[in-house]
Amino acid sequence: MSASRSILLIIGGGIAAYKCLELIRRLKDRGISSRCILTKAGAEFVTPLAVSSLAGERCFTDLFSLTDEADIGHIALSRSTDLLVVAPATADLIAKMATGLANDLASTALLATDKRVLIAPAMNPRMWQHPATRRNMAQLEKDGILVVGPNSGAMAERGESGPGRMAEPAEILAAIELALAGEATTQQRAIGFLGRLPGGAGSPQGPLAGRHVLVTSGPTHEAIDPVRYIANRSSGKQGHAIAAAAAAAGARVTLVSGPVAVPDPPGVETVHVESAREMLAAVEAALPADIAIFAAAVADWRVADAAPEKMKKDGSGLPPLALIENPDILATVAHRPSGRPSLVVGFAAETQNVVAFAQAKLAKKGCDLIVANDVGGTGVMGGDANTVHLVTREGVESWPTLAKQEVAGRLIARVSEIIDASKARA
Ligand code: CTP
Repeated sequence: MSASRSILLIIGGGIAAYKCLELIRRLKDRGISSRCILTKAGAEFVTPLAVSSLAGERCFTDLFSLTDEADIGHIALSRSTDLLVVAPATADLIAKMATGLANDLASTALLATDKRVLIAPAMNPRMWQHPATRRNMAQLEKDGILVVGPNSGAMAERGESGPGRMAEPAEILAAIELALAGEATTQQRAIGFLGRLPGGAGSPQGPLAGRHVLVTSGPTHEAIDPVRYIANRSSGKQGHAIAAAAAAAGARVTLVSGPVAVPDPPGVETVHVESAREMLAAVEAALPADIAIFAAAVADWRVADAAPEKMKKDGSGLPPLALIENPDILATVAHRPSGRPSLVVGFAAETQNVVAFAQAKLAKKGCDLIVANDVGGTGVMGGDANTVHLVTREGVESWPTLAKQEVAGRLIARVSEIIDASKARA
């Protein structure tokens, strides 16, 4: 990682501004220096002193400060950096950017820059959903502005919830690493934004650069005879989004996929399989891996003696379908005596007692993290949203309902953090 990477962080006025202090610290840990502009409204939430102490240099606050202009003009300020990051990007800042207003230091720097810009929107859900903000965001997307978040959840205002929470520092950091590597953010890759940007998957600088990530996805099909099979409702959307997010974070990714209708993610080596036994063989062939994420809905049972020819209604009654258990791919990999990935992540699709069953699964299967979701009558299987709980031996973290791409982005950000922390401990 190069120590010379730098960003210009514009801190807008919102309660989420305090998260920028954490962001500056994390950026420093990854060798990325931050020079900061604090808007007038931003200074109502964090002080210039706190920002400058963490950033290690003075924080810029006012367009017409003669000293600022003498030190470094706003044009130079906006260009002597690798990336501009606006966090929190308030409705006001977004509107200024969309219309090209330049009436303070932050908006002037944003208009004068020749560098890419990443924004982390944060506002009340009604403001985020207002047609004016929708129009402004559409304009920013058109202008090539990168976006991370916002997430859904409870707001600082009592009783308010919905989309509008600023992305977490780890997510903004992951988006910054991608942007510095010339890539789109995970959510923009998911909507095909990458085609408009230079660069590609497998970046040398993302948080998972140099790592091999193995992902399973989709259902398995267990043959009854050459034309019939046992299957389940898994679409592969969540597993494929995870593989795409890992690639976007710079990893080399092998995706072992059961039969699905979703396309292979770009920049990912996809191995297509049908049955659980084929999936296990493909997973073992893809090892070693640093991280393995088992998102596939593997059929627990297969037909003991699949018929070699199509079974006929020959008048001799119903066919006896004896089932036998399939190998447990996750448990097999997690219990490997040697060559076990450093981090093994399982999924638990449950219809009741979601967290308790996931905790039991964590222990039984020997994995490090379980992503548990409630698939009981919620349209999760095949749908575009997911409500998950992250279960580890340390505790449970529940996320709000998010788009599957957002779950994937967050999960990869979290996995990168865990891997970094275990490296730091080693
Ligand atoms: N899994 C696997 N191989 C199997 C069955 C499951 O790798 N043969 C993995 C899934 O990819 C998932 C996790 O194990 O990461 C949990 O799968 P799930 O079907 O929820 O658990 P089961 O072991 O099947 O438990 P149960 O059906 O009793 O809930």
